[in-house]
Amino acid sequence: MTLTNPPVHTPETLSPKRTGSTDPNLQAWVDEIARLTQPDAVVWCDGSPREASILSRQLVAEGKLIRLNPEWRPNSFLARTNPKDVARVEDRTFICSNDEADAGPTNNWAEPTAMREELQGVFAGSMRGRTLYVVPFSMGPLGGPISQLGVEITDSPYVVLNMGIMTRMGEQILTMIEAGDPWVHTVHSIGYPLVDANGVKRDDVEWPCNDTKYIVQFPDTREVWSYGSGYGGNALLSKKSFALRIASVMGRDEGWLAEHMLLIKLISPEGKVFHVSAAFPSACGKTNLSMLQPTIPGWKVETIGDDIAWLRQGEDGRLWAINPEAGFFGVAPGTGETTNPTAVATMWGNTIFTNVALRDDGDVWWEGLTDTPPAHLIDWQGKDWTPASGRPAAHPNSRFTVAAAQCPSIADDWEAAGGVPIDAIIFGGRRATNVPLVAQARNWKHGVFMGATISSEKTAAAEGTVGELRRDPFAMLPFCGYNMADYWAHWLAVGKSLGTKAPAIFQVNWFRKDEDGSFIWPGFGENSRVLEWMVRRLEGQAEARDTPIGLLPTADGLNVEGLDLSEKDLEQLFAIDPASWLAECDLTEEYFNKFGDRVPPALLAELASVRYHLKD
Ligand code: GTP
Ligand code: MN
Ligand code: MN
Repeated sequence: MTLTNPPVHTPETLSPKRTGSTDPNLQAWVDEIARLTQPDAVVWCDGSPREASILSRQLVAEGKLIRLNPEWRPNSFLARTNPKDVARVEDRTFICSNDEADAGPTNNWAEPTAMREELQGVFAGSMRGRTLYVVPFSMGPLGGPISQLGVEITDSPYVVLNMGIMTRMGEQILTMIEAGDPWVHTVHSIGYPLVDANGVKRDDVEWPCNDTKYIVQFPDTREVWSYGSGYGGNALLSKKSFALRIASVMGRDEGWLAEHMLLIKLISPEGKVFHVSAAFPSACGKTNLSMLQPTIPGWKVETIGDDIAWLRQGEDGRLWAINPEAGFFGVAPGTGETTNPTAVATMWGNTIFTNVALRDDGDVWWEGLTDTPPAHLIDWQGKDWTPASGRPAAHPNSRFTVAAAQCPSIADDWEAAGGVPIDAIIFGGRRATNVPLVAQARNWKHGVFMGATISSEKTAAAEGTVGELRRDPFAMLPFCGYNMADYWAHWLAVGKSLGTKAPAIFQVNWFRKDEDGSFIWPGFGENSRVLEWMVRRLEGQAEARDTPIGLLPTADGLNVEGLDLSEKDLEQLFAIDPASWLAECDLTEEYFNKFGDRVPPALLAELASVRYHLKD
């Protein structure tokens, strides 16, 4: 089947509204970047559907996007990246704070002046033969008290299209900037100019990028420079670079929090509403939990955000949160009718797929979408694929980009300017051993200790043993824009300010395994039972038993009615083995020591207290 492509539109037909900005700083910055990168044209994006349509047609005509069969997937596209440009590049991600100690031991630091010079060289002429797009965007509802503005300069129309879904993008933001609102500067180039310094031209390729990559944050000046990658978190600078790395520093300085958290509204059978945010490391189920369909009768979960939350104390003294994004950039493999039907329904159309497989009927497929794969596919690298090929059809990190507004479970007030008041915060990792299904923190400090010790086994260790742990404090390891120990101190300070109005904190682990290496807890929709227990705790309706590591459900506390769990399973889900916990405490101490005297004494006290009770 062939799909006809509409005629190519040149960039000149885009955005007739503007050729510049009346804001002198913005105009000077765009001029400066254009002088440095030397594009053929500068386009000020207006964020209109017309603009998106022109750009997608252009990319289809150039062979850089495949239009999916509109019968199955209207206004949707497939992008295939260069196989070397498929994920975030943490070893090329830099935090260039003025003071090296402010970046801390978990970030790559580079001296800002030297890095600026290096970037000047790298970006010189990097957009030759291409169009420079100016993409103004808002993180959070326009003008909201927790929202922030940004501008991304990019030479990638694929990035423009994705930014149009992931943020509130366009003309109105320029008007706000021109009225004096502050904004964050972000610059992106794929690093594949079509003309060299001598004027010699070269052909474009399907996915232009550069082997050399830089993802550079300058927290002190609130700036991002990204080079060489067109992919996801490296190129959509609103997301990890701004909304987490830069925003975490803004939060430190201004008293708020930028977190790698999903955000949901939970409605009890009595109709009572609770708001919950949860931090899990990448690939540990944030998108799943944000769209959860409860298996227990009467409960409802509505989605507000699936990846990032910004939280700030409100005038009433409580903690309020927004989802600063407008779309989902979710992992495709494993997303199917049984695991996340809501996500599948969200992507009915108007979706950009990256690195998934193409079906013969012009729709998409990936591992886990259906139980039985189609007999023939074109895989993510453009090669013929059959179930006998012995390799995945979709890249394991293939993604879908889709507007949050299309999600059937989206909460009515997901765009409330002031956000929603948070009742509970959850921390979770992927632990085969040690960490129980759920535990409540005794207080805020203990909760911060739980967040600071989020980790996953590097290899699936056998039950009862403690393997080497990959630490991912607050699920922020790759995203904290400053010294992680200072970040813990900031969390403690926020808790102090919230006082008795602070949300309750819980720790969860969906991933505990039995001797055979199988997950003990069924997970997914059944996780609603754990949410139910949390709400009962908030309401003072459930007892808990005090253990050295936190407050656990009593024997009959968790609703497991109708689940196929044996007594032994339940015991294993909640087992706390003092010897392996003490061994884990040693590893935690070792980890804390990396941060020297910047570790807040309150966390050392929490560690001492856990040890003390384990030895009891
Ligand atoms: P990023 O978007 O990269 O930040 O990650 P994420 O936290 O959104 O992860 P995502 O939801 O894409 O994680 C999906 C993985 O978690 C898949 O392997 C799922 O099978 C697994 N997963 C999610 N929920 C559960 C659960 O309740 N139990 C089990 N066993 N696996 C789960
Ligand atoms: Mn996700
Ligand atoms: Mn994420």
